[in-house]
This record gives sequence, structure tokens and C-alpha cells, in this order.
Amino acid sequence: MLNKIIEIAKEAGQVVREGFGKTLDIEFKTNESNLVTQIDKASEKRIIDYVKKEFPSHGILAEESGELKNTSEYLWVIDPLDGTTNFAHGLPIFSVSIGVQKNGITLAGVVYDVMRDIVYSAETGSGAYANNKRINISLNDKLQRALLVTGFPYNIAENPENAFERFIALTKASRGMRRLGSAAIDFCYVANGVFDGFWEVYLHPWDICAGKLILEEAGGIVTGFKGEAIDIFSNKILATNKNVHDQMVEVINKF
Ligand code: IPD
Ligand code: CA
Ligand code: CA
Repeated sequence: MLNKIIEIAKEAGQVVREGFGKTLDIEFKTNESNLVTQIDKASEKRIIDYVKKEFPSHGILAEESGELKNTSEYLWVIDPLDGTTNFAHGLPIFSVSIGVQKNGITLAGVVYDVMRDIVYSAETGSGAYANNKRINISLNDKLQRALLVTGFPYNIAENPENAFERFIALTKASRGMRRLGSAAIDFCYVANGVFDGFWEVYLHPWDICAGKLILEEAGGIVTGFKGEAIDIFSNKILATNKNVHDQMVEVINKF
């Protein structure tokens, strides 16, 4: 199963890479910040066609097509291009993210960092890998020495969930805060120890599914803002190396 997910994530990544820098047909979704391009759609179609051919009974939840069918106990959770704003502006940080669940439990996940050509992957109980090399979380246990990452939802102008106040507080409490623009890559950069923690509000299941498993398999944890267990449908995410988790919970809950 994992090899098949990797195969199609790389194929979809090829579609995305070939579209990078080309003229884009841009449509707006909820507002003028929330874009979709013909490349998001082409990547998604490539993945869905593959799943339908290889696993015709499986359900699919894909960002641009919604939920296609769900009679099977398997569900493919697909973000065909995570980081569309970066992609559309020529910033080479974006990914293809595919997770596969069985009865609501993620069994396998792949995040393909398209321009760096890195496949992050994990299967439950088997560790996390970047291009077949095992990856692990950082050992840092001091928030003041932590490098953090976050992202903003497309309604950030409304300051949902005090996102700006939390951004300021966590920036002050840590060594630094970054904002890359692909949530799936953010999870992987916690998994490989680059970042110590990642937090964001209003993510979607396709942003979370694969990255959450990859981080957990690398030794990290993903919870809600109070440290509670969550599933991929939760919209407040705190994803860390485990060691700075409680300290981040404390700062986040001041608001
Ligand atoms: C977005 C990215 C971004 C995050 C947004 C997501 P999209 O996904 O993951 O990092 O801050 O909340 O919606 O729209 O590029 O697939
Ligand atoms: Ca996304
Ligand atoms: Ca997307």
C-alpha cells in the first residue's frame, strides 16, 4: 500500500512541478486569498483516477472534489497541492499530501515535497522516513530554544481563535517563528527535527492526515490546544517534538 501511495504522490508531484512557473488559470474559492488553479485540479484528477483504478472500492476525500464515495472501510484523504498560494506566486514550497485511513485510523501517509524531491512517508508502527532514511524529532525540551512554525487560514483577517495574539506570544516565548505556507511540510519539518513545534487553526483533514502520522511515527505528538487527543477533522492543531508540548499548551491557552 505505501509503495502505491508513494508512486501516485510522485506522479501528481510531476504534474505540479511541470505546472510551476507556467501561466495559471486562477479561481477564487472563499475569498481573493483562497486560490485554486488548473494544476490543483489536474494533480487531484491524476490521484483520483489512480485510486479508482487500483482500489475501486475505496472511499476518497479530496480537497477540490469533496467526498466521492465512502462505502468501503478505507478512505484516501488527498491534498493535491498543499501550498497553492506559494505555487501561484512562484515560491517553491509546496507538496502533495495523501493519507489512507481504515475505519478512521490512518494506516499510511505520504507528503511529497515537490521541488526538493523528498518523499516523507510513514506506516503505522514502522517509523517515519524521508527518501527512505529514518527521521526523528528534535530532543530540545526548552521552548525558549525552540524554532516554531505556523500558518494562517484564509480568513486570517478576522483573527480567528486569537491567532495573532497567539502568534505574538509564541514568537516571544521561542527562539523564532516561521511561516512556510504548506501545512503538510510543516508537520514533516517537525518530524525531521528542523522545527520543534507547529500550531495552526482551521486546518482541514487533507492538510493533517498524512503529516500527523509522519510526525507521530517520528516520535512527536499531535493534539488539540489543550493537549487532548484529536482526529483529522479537528481544526486546532498543536504538533510538536513532545518535549516542548506542555510549554506550548501553556502559552497557547493564555488566550
Ligand atoms: C493551505 C496551506 C497553508 C495553511 C492553510 C492551508 P492549501 O493549504 O497548508 O500552509 O496555512 O491553512 O489551507 O490551500 O494551499 O492547500
Ligand atoms: Ca492544504
Ligand atoms: Ca490544496
